[in-house]
Amino acid sequence: MEAEANSGSPEDSWAFIQRPGEGCRTVPLAGHVGFDSLPDQLVNQSISQGFCFNILCVGETGLGKSTLMDTLFNTKFEGEPATHTQPGVQLQSNTYDLQESNVGLKLTIVSTVGFGDQINKEDSYRPIVEFIDAQFEAYLQEELKIRRLLHNYHDSRIHACLYFIAPTGHSLKSLDLVTMKKLDSKVNVIPIIAKSDAISKSELTKFKIKITSELVSNGVQIYQFPMDDEAVAEVNGTMNAHLPFAVIGSTEELKIGNKMVKVRQYPWGTVQVENEAHCDFVKLREMLIRVNMEDLREQTHSRHYELYRRCKLEEMGFKDTDPDSKPFSLQETYEAKRNEFLGELQKKEEEMRQMFVQRVKEKEAELKEAEKENKSCL
Ligand code: GTP
Ligand code: MG
Repeated sequence: MEAEANSGSPEDSWAFIQRPGEGCRTVPLAGHVGFDSLPDQLVNQSISQGFCFNILCVGETGLGKSTLMDTLFNTKFEGEPATHTQPGVQLQSNTYDLQESNVGLKLTIVSTVGFGDQINKEDSYRPIVEFIDAQFEAYLQEELKIRRLLHNYHDSRIHACLYFIAPTGHSLKSLDLVTMKKLDSKVNVIPIIAKSDAISKSELTKFKIKITSELVSNGVQIYQFPMDDEAVAEVNGTMNAHLPFAVIGSTEELKIGNKMVKVRQYPWGTVQVENEAHCDFVKLREMLIRVNMEDLREQTHSRHYELYRRCKLEEMGFKDTDPDSKPFSLQETYEAKRNEFLGELQKKEEEMRQMFVQRVKEKEAELKEAEKENKSCL
């Protein structure tokens, strides 16, 4: 084929091999070939494989994490309320198989237990970071296997971290800032104001502004809904301006008009969870599930996991290029590491040998001294 393409003018031939640096030619098709069905093939393949989505809920005990998850997915997940007497922060993970129309979703909900309950909260973020890293590590280990099974691997990497902010109306607590800062390079952090029925309308507006400015001044990078896809740029742009969403959770239903709606009832009135004038629950559900779920999954893989993988491989001594900018070979890296290890082993052996010789010398000297003393006594 290459000889044929080389023999005549490339412009005359219907197909020719593209060489590096050459542009790609557009040629007309005389009839229907069928590769326009590729997107449909992808959709069918994805539907048959099913999807997976993993949410991490970080927030103080009793802030409404479980209730919000039940409200978001319109179901009742298992889970017991935590006590305030946990000695440290723990993470509880549950996986569920959900089905909507013909689409299957393997949903994992991970929740913090005992977050914010300890007197010393300095290390509260650590178990969360370790959990996220452990999921990255498990994926990396699968990737590095000779016989990897990524195709039906249960991906447990966290796609979205909902950070529950207490509805104080004041400012963020240092625990919130420290935790979000530690998490922002590892996961898509979406801060939400929990139990927002506890704040008045005017206080809420001020609270949102205050939170946003504190996040900016402390350099916390929260997840922004993407603007690069034209189809969703407008809605995402508008929604970015509403962050952080102020949410209310409830699974209690009440008939209002001729519709059953989710509500929270108080002695003074009723709050409707899905009423946009009452709270931002619908905005959160729209953004998290209906519009940006795929972007959250994509960002997790291409941004957060990639960073973890790069740091981890560099730590292990792998590089893309050597100091002369030549591509780094895996074999050379392995041999360099092996030689480094053997060198260190030899050095240690030598040190131990020297120490042994020294000890023997000292012991000999001690014995000689003792012998001398014995002789002088006699
Ligand atoms: P732990 O798992 O124990 O940390 O608690 P949690 O964060 O999962 O909170 P949970 O959903 O168990 O809710 C705790 C209490 O808060 C329950 O009594 C809920 O009914 C109530 N609650 C949940 N969401 C809201 C809300 O949006 N507003 C108000 N006012 N109360 C809520
Ligand atoms: Mg709970």
